[in-house]
Amino acid sequence: MSINQPDFKEVLGQISRLIAITTTVLLLMVAVIFIGVLASGPTEDWHSLYVESPDVILSEKMTLENAVEYQSQDIQYGYELITNTDQLIGMTVDDESMRYTGNVLRCSSCHLQGGTQSYGIALVGVTDRFPQFRGRENKEGTLSERINGCMTRSMNGIPLPENGKEMKAMLAYISWLDDYFGEDASSVAPGLKPIELPNRAVDLAKGEAIFNQQCTVCHQSNGQGLASSDTSGASYTYPPLWGDYSYNNGAGMHRVITAAQFIKYNMPFGITHESAILSDEDAYDVAGYMNSHHRPLRDHLDLDFPDRKRKPMSTPYGPYVDDFSSEQHKYGPYPPIAEYYKEVYQMTKKK
Ligand code: HEC
Ligand code: HEC
Repeated sequence: MSINQPDFKEVLGQISRLIAITTTVLLLMVAVIFIGVLASGPTEDWHSLYVESPDVILSEKMTLENAVEYQSQDIQYGYELITNTDQLIGMTVDDESMRYTGNVLRCSSCHLQGGTQSYGIALVGVTDRFPQFRGRENKEGTLSERINGCMTRSMNGIPLPENGKEMKAMLAYISWLDDYFGEDASSVAPGLKPIELPNRAVDLAKGEAIFNQQCTVCHQSNGQGLASSDTSGASYTYPPLWGDYSYNNGAGMHRVITAAQFIKYNMPFGITHESAILSDEDAYDVAGYMNSHHRPLRDHLDLDFPDRKRKPMSTPYGPYVDDFSSEQHKYGPYPPIAEYYKEVYQMTKKK
């Protein structure tokens, strides 16, 4: 055999390696498509759609994202702002004058599915509930003021100008959500669903164990989430739960009861309030563990809730009108605090 002549066995080997590689690649592609289909979840088929232009009648299987495309510029921009907050008004956007938020979260990190998920702090039906009395400021507040509440706390940023393009767009989108759902609007449950509060303080060790079991796959063991690889780290596939780039200590999510209600009925990501897997106690402990870590600090929190008896009992910062310790306000047990307010002020406290 001359040295130039390819060895028959070797050629055969190469061919079978090639076949093996091709098969693997094909199988992988099928798997990826399959996972994609699974991850996209059940399509909601009940969305009736009310569009502005009467000649476009769309009635079935219109996803939120698709439906938005038929709407006004304002509504489209509002949708983008709420679901892509970090990319448009985030702390790392190129145009420095557009850096309104001070972390990497999106509104939809908490207002799930663009604000359409039942008990995922849905924004459906919100427009009609404002203006409303707000205990945190002790006055009647508008919806734009409420949005700026989340801007300065949940998003650790600065307020959006009340009459600016961004605020108008967010208001337009939130209000359009009611049209999108039409008669079904009332089937989207607002806010958060209560859990039964254990009559004991948060068990941080238990919370850590649950965190390691249920949360680290996505939010990572350091709680810092996961930046997506396709950008300069500005965009997060999984948002951080604490640290410099998460919500600040004045945010609603920093209250253990609020966080427990959110976690119980929305996490691990993919569940809904109808398929929750954590027990109330687990949600309570992991919420406490999450909120035991360092995060951005907001100034002047002592000025919140000027009428101090209106302060939610799990507000982790004083001053309070009661004598319970800050520690107990932060980590419970809450039933004794609730009892106190009932007795002394005839107030029913649930959070
Ligand atoms: C870290 C989580 C988080 C993020 C991020 C967040 N919010 Fe919120 N938001 C909350 C919580 C918690 C509440 C209060 C829910 C409750 O107590 O029922 C709330 C309430 C609201 C409400 C009032 C809802 C109602 O039913 O009265 C509006 C409007 C709102 N947020 C808008 C926004 C917008 C717009 C953004 C983005 C700029 C944003 N939020 C970002 C957590 C968040
Ligand atoms: C399968 C991945 C996954 C798992 C597991 C998971 N999360 Fe999340 N979590 C997400 C995603 C994704 C979001 C943002 C939702 C969005 O942008 O649509 C989120 C948002 C959050 C938020 C609000 C945003 C923020 O950063 O504060 C909290 C709080 C949270 N998760 C807590 C938890 C806790 C506690 C657990 C464990 C019990 C958990 N998550 C498990 C994927 C996950």
